Amino acid sequence: MRMTCLLVAAILWAPAALAQTDPGPRPGPAGAGGPLPGLSANEQAFFTAARTNFQEVDTFANGLGPRMNLNSCAGCHAAPAVGGSSPATNPQVAFSSLLGPPNTLPSFITASGPIREVRFIKNPDGTPDGGVHDLFVITPNVGGPAACKLTQPNFAEAVEQHNAIFRIPTPTFGNGLVENLNDAQLQLSFNANAGMKAQLGISGHFNSSGNDGTITKFGWKAQNKSLLIFSGEAYNVEQGVTNDAFPNERETNPNCATNPTPESTTNLTTGNTTVAQEATNFNQDIVNFAAFMRLSAPPTPVPNAYPNTAFGQQVFVNVGCVGCHTQNFRTGPSAFTGQSNVTFTPFSDFAVHNMGEGLADGVSQGNANGAEFRSAPLWGLGQRLFFLHDGRTSDLLQAIEAHSSEGSEANRVISNFNALPNGAKQSLLNFLRSL
Ligand code: HEC
Ligand code: HEC
Repeated sequence: MRMTCLLVAAILWAPAALAQTDPGPRPGPAGAGGPLPGLSANEQAFFTAARTNFQEVDTFANGLGPRMNLNSCAGCHAAPAVGGSSPATNPQVAFSSLLGPPNTLPSFITASGPIREVRFIKNPDGTPDGGVHDLFVITPNVGGPAACKLTQPNFAEAVEQHNAIFRIPTPTFGNGLVENLNDAQLQLSFNANAGMKAQLGISGHFNSSGNDGTITKFGWKAQNKSLLIFSGEAYNVEQGVTNDAFPNERETNPNCATNPTPESTTNLTTGNTTVAQEATNFNQDIVNFAAFMRLSAPPTPVPNAYPNTAFGQQVFVNVGCVGCHTQNFRTGPSAFTGQSNVTFTPFSDFAVHNMGEGLADGVSQGNANGAEFRSAPLWGLGQRLFFLHDGRTSDLLQAIEAHSSEGSEANRVISNFNALPNGAKQSLLNFLRSL
């Protein structure tokens, strides 16, 4: 009887099984999280010590809050290894309980959903806001001063008014190789397939630094210049830890911001064993955070994880995904051992593109407008749990379909994709999950 039911079920399911599906996060060991291959012994030791710093959990005594989204870099940059993206269980839920009242969980934070940070599109007077509004406020449970009485922003109202947008953590693996690319290399690569882009309706442009004018590459809108600047900003915005790069508290309530600033500074003494460990002891945290990411290896693809991945990669090229998700770059001269003239495959042009009204978040950063996003680097996609800037889906197929909406530069490429036979679509999905 049971056999028959299974048989019937199998027959009923057969047509669905033929349609293309995302194989899901690739099982097996994390293909990421280690140091770049070829580093010297000292650089490797430095990487390992810096990684410990990246995993440090802060309390108020060492700078946490008064407002924050979580209490460690590695809490958000967690999967599939330290340095990555959002893990399967959102640590913001447990963190909210740890903090206790008056903190409550906003509706868009759930245990099985992605880690999110929130930006508001507009201020109450209608002028553009765009800034991060931290989820939580400090409490005595994590060492906060009892006199500090802050309240969370009104997230329920912001959601109701469609004024809240979300960002999930981007993985940081291999970002030292990205940091190495200079403007000429990026521009050359961008121009190399100009004919193909024109044919497909793809334009795009680089974001750049208002300070030194060079191309900026990091963040969902390529809004940030360097891993050090991102670390300084994240430490303050995400954790409220003031530092040499961002020395002022964002929350200035005198009952709350009682630590001397900056809260993280360069140590002038050390007493430790190896040279590399000593170096990390002298550095302030943000230098170590940046060093960990700069010396981390790109994710390792597993080409034979699924059938037909080589064909899938050909499809990826043929339909025009490479118009934005550029496959290869080559580093120039690098200060780090064995990292000069290295070919790597981030699958991004590091430019920003108009992605249409379906993905637009209404927030401008640098010269990226409210509809523009950096071509998300696709390396490591095989083990990713959440996709797109706001983590709206865990399904690759939906992430691809979301590229298409009024005004998107990807519309023609997505029609090419949609016109493919199911087998070719499946091969493309298999290829993406092999990365
Ligand atoms: C509450 C979660 C959270 C914490 C904690 C956090 N981050 Fe992030 N991180 C994010 C989000 C979200 C983004 C994407 C932000 C954007 O582009 O708008 C991001 C992006 C980044 C990037 C950009 C990588 C790239 O390729 O685009 C770097 C670098 C980074 N974070 C470093 C850090 C460091 C260092 C720390 C610790 C000081 C840290 N983050 C703590 C959520 C977090
Ligand atoms: C016009 C440029 C462009 C084209 C063409 C394009 N993409 Fe993208 N892709 C982007 C941008 C920009 C994002 C980030 C969008 C966002 O998060 O809102 C993205 C995100 C993604 C993501 C989610 C990655 C993540 O980190 O969450 C996947 C998967 C993806 N693209 C696959 C593809 C595939 C497959 C194709 C070809 C069928 C393709 N893309 C074509 C620009 C493009």
